[in-house]
Amino acid sequence: MFAVYAESFSPEDPLSGLTIGERPEPDVPDGWTTVTVKAASLNHHDLWTLRGVGIKQEQLPMIIGCDAAGIDEDGHEVVVHSVISDPSFSGADETMDPKRSLLSERYQGTFADKVTVPRKNVVPKPESLSFEEAACLPTAWLTAYRMLFVQGGCRPGDTVLVQGAGGGVSTALIALARAGGLKVFATSRDETKRQRALDLGAHAVFETGERLPVTVDAVMETVGQATWLHSIRSLRVGGTLVTTGATSGNMPPDMGLTRIFFLQLRVIGSTMGTRGELASLVTMMDATGVRPVIDRVLPMEDARQGLEAMAQGDIFGKIVFTR
Ligand SMILES: NC(=O)c1ccc[n+]([C@@H]2O[C@H](COP(=O)([O-])OP(=O)(O)OC[C@H]3O[C@@H](n4cnc5c(N)ncnc54)[C@H](OP(=O)(O)O)[C@@H]3O)[C@@H](O)[C@H]2O)c1
Repeated sequence: MFAVYAESFSPEDPLSGLTIGERPEPDVPDGWTTVTVKAASLNHHDLWTLRGVGIKQEQLPMIIGCDAAGIDEDGHEVVVHSVISDPSFSGADETMDPKRSLLSERYQGTFADKVTVPRKNVVPKPESLSFEEAACLPTAWLTAYRMLFVQGGCRPGDTVLVQGAGGGVSTALIALARAGGLKVFATSRDETKRQRALDLGAHAVFETGERLPVTVDAVMETVGQATWLHSIRSLRVGGTLVTTGATSGNMPPDMGLTRIFFLQLRVIGSTMGTRGELASLVTMMDATGVRPVIDRVLPMEDARQGLEAMAQGDIFGKIVFTR
């Protein structure tokens, strides 16, 4: 079948290991289903994979891609939940399974004609969402949902700061926070992206690192090193920082430790979300009419072009591949 896969890793030149060609049809273990992929979306995770982060040499070749929407074996339109828990895991929150993995880490990913997942890892796609829109939800939008409403404990009326407005997760954070009744601040390095964040629903936008007019209840962090200290400094006493990524590096020169303990800040990690949270997100999208920001839609054959744009940071929202 057609597939976009990693044949080798390169931390410096991640696209050098990208291959677009043919891979064998997937094996289907008992209790798993095969989804015919109609659309898949790109995440920074796919660049990390090509850099060799979170995956071992012996797992190559690996089809990349965490996100997909398509049609399952029974003909149902579905959204794929990318968090695969270990069969021995019996807890309610798959993200807390120490042996969990995301598609394209242990199991083959979604940039292909077909992807195979445990039957419980599909969620019905409502008619109101296109395949392209639904394909944006399983990683970036689910991560944003959990950051805000689960780990961040954000409530209507709270004020939240979203760092790095242009990213897939960040655009989801802005749109979901606005739909959830929060006051939304956002930062970006780029004037055009700041304007687009306002159009998307942010109440106010700031240059990266600019002092805010007031402190906020919560900060949503995906950028890491480049914005960490500003995030800490932007919080009110007892405020919450939710961290889920470190695109710019994971070694801030100053962690703001003194401020963290004096102001009794809470620093909370967040990763992906549960199947139940994905179902709630899908319902929220259906009910509110909020839709993912799609930067561009490309045929999956042009995946290299999408990855190049992401590597250059030249995007606002999600890049979607169609089959
Ligand atoms: N833990 C999880 O479950 C999980 C899930 C999804 C994503 N993530 C992680 O979250 C991060 C974002 O993912 P994504 O898919 O949204 O990536 P993306 O679309 O490539 O977004 C990157 C964002 O980072 C900002 N940025 C990058 N370098 C920066 C710098 N030097 N200074 C300031 N801002 C910078 C950009 O903001 P501007 O251009 O607007 O300034 C942009 O918004 C990645 O590290 C990813 O691995 C983690």
